[in-house]
Parts: sequence; structure tokens; C-alpha cells
Amino acid sequence: MSLAEQAQPGAISDPTAFAEYLTFTLRDHDVTSDKVISALDMVANATKSIRQKDPDSQVSSTVGIGARAWPLLFPEADMPEGLTAFEAMSDGDRSFPSTPGDLFVMVKSSRIDLAFEVGKYLILGFAPIADCVEDQRGFKYLDDRDLINFVDGTENPRGTERVAAVLVPSGTYAGGTHLLIQTYLDRQAEWNALTIEDQEGVIGRTKFDDIEIPDAEKKPFAHNVKSKVEIDGTEIKMFRQNRAIGTAKEHGTMFVGFAAEASTLTTSLRQMITADADGNYDHLLDFVTATTGAMYFVPPQAFLDAITG
Ligand code: HEM
Repeated sequence: MSLAEQAQPGAISDPTAFAEYLTFTLRDHDVTSDKVISALDMVANATKSIRQKDPDSQVSSTVGIGARAWPLLFPEADMPEGLTAFEAMSDGDRSFPSTPGDLFVMVKSSRIDLAFEVGKYLILGFAPIADCVEDQRGFKYLDDRDLINFVDGTENPRGTERVAAVLVPSGTYAGGTHLLIQTYLDRQAEWNALTIEDQEGVIGRTKFDDIEIPDAEKKPFAHNVKSKVEIDGTEIKMFRQNRAIGTAKEHGTMFVGFAAEASTLTTSLRQMITADADGNYDHLLDFVTATTGAMYFVPPQAFLDAITG
């Protein structure tokens, strides 16, 4: 089996038109191995049954487990390397909060009704052991734009480059991946007050046709300067499945980032938030506010299948 086939399929497939993002916290005293098995069974069965209603609807459920939850849910399985709770970060008036999240499920589908349907079953399935503390619905906006109206995801790795960037290459959890989730709200009025040229300076790409600004002309505070992770001159990629969330009144971006090593995600965040010697941080953070933040490990599909039998 190739490394890509070992992954939970939703972790490495392209984002779909709709997604349900469900965050759960465990009620520790209710957790027993029987209930864990039946909850994970519900994920597999509901996803499969609802996909059968429309096989072209690309229904998938991707399950992530937080550091606190791992030993409670799977006392006999080793802790995945690099899985730790997300530590809040701040600098100046910018902050990335760390918020509760023991389990996270991303349900993807090209159909909003089918993603919703799976989400409803999952809340029921996890109810005996966990409370759903956040329920967001993501959607594809225009030509894959986020709600600051820039195309999002262009520099994502594809094909074998994606597999290498996202999946743990070997060991017990080969085919697993680390996942960073942050909910962001846009400060739309402040963003709209910028000229298009200034918005392009903040992102480091053109707005209308999504062309990268040449390195020599990029602003030192551009998002694509600050978020890019390099080690010894080599770029270390992540795979972002961001989607627009919210309503016409209040909206933002669900940041959904996968990487083979958790440190790629946290390094990117630290580069974005920290002002350098010249005072430059990622100016995107002047226009979006992170309201949640949590890290998860998305185990390989076979790990989940072995539990449900
Ligand atoms: C509201 C939150 C965010 C928005 C609206 C946003 C938007 C964008 C946009 C428009 C691009 C350029 C197009 C592309 O290559 O996808 C981009 C690139 C990128 N973003 Fe974000 N982003 C957000 C948060 C984050 C966070 C939290 C991280 C890191 C943990 C991140 C990491 C990256 C990376 C690595 C790139 C590619 C840079 C490159 O190689 O050119 N972004 N983002």
C-alpha cells in the first residue's frame, strides 16, 4: 500500500465545496473503550451510508485527536511523535489563542446537505463521551477565495509533493498527519478601507488574477513572506484546506493546515505573529482575528479501522 493510501482520504484530497468542522471535548469520566469503539464506528458507518446516497458527492470524514485525549481514548497506543497541546502565542496586540479541542472531525462533501447529515450523526455518535463545543460550516467562495477576497490555496503542494509535505513517512503512524485548526474572523471594514494595491502588499499576490509579486518587490510584512517556512534554504510546505465560514454579517476563514511535522505549522505561526528587528510581522493579522486554536494528530486510516474492527 502506498503512503497516500495509508492516510485518511480527506487529509490529502482537495477541499470540497462544503465542509462541517466539529470540535469536541471529552467528558473524561464517561470514556470507556466500548463507547470509543461505538463512536468511531458511527463515523465510519454514517460517512459510508451517506456517501452511498450520491457516490459523486465526495463525502469524507477526517478525524483528528488532541494531545490530552490521545491517552484517554487509546491507552494502549503510543503517543504520536510531536503531538502536544497547542500553546497560545502573542506579540504586540496580536494573539493566537489556544482553545479546548480533544477531537476534531472535518466532514467534506460537494453537497451541503450530505455534509450536514454526516455532521448530525457524528454529534449523536460522540454524545455518550463528548460535547460538541464548536460547529462551523465552511464553503467554497467564488474561485476558491477567502473572505478577504483573495484566492487561497494556490501555493499548496500537489501530487507526490503533497504526500511528502503532509504524511508521516515511516514508523507506527506512517500515513498520519498533524493538523492545525484556527477559526478566524475578518475585520471587513478595516480591510475594505485599504486600497487594492495595499491589500496586495499585505498578501504578496495580486488580487484579481492571483499572481505572486516578485520577491524583490514583496513587502517584508507580506503574508506569503512571513508564513513561508524554510530550513537551510529549503522550503518546507504545508497543505491548507481553508474554507470561508460564517454569514453575511459575521464571517471569516477556517484555517485547516496539515503537515508531516507539527513544528512546520507552529513555526509558520510564530513567524507570522512575531515582529522582527525591523518591527515587521504578518500584516494580515491586522485584519483577521483568531478566535480558536488547537492541534491534532490525524492517525492513519488503518489505525481507526483496527479499533472499530
Ligand atoms: C484568516 C487566515 C488566513 C488567510 C485569509 C490566509 C490567506 C492566504 C492567501 C490569500 C494566500 C496566498 C495564496 C496561496 O498560496 O494560498 C496564503 C498563502 C499561505 N498561507 Fe495563509 N492565510 C491565513 C492563515 C494562515 C495561517 C494561520 C498559516 C500558517 C499556519 C498560513 C500559511 C500560509 C502559507 C504557508 C502560504 C503559502 C505561502 C507561499 O509559499 O507563497 N496562512 N494564505
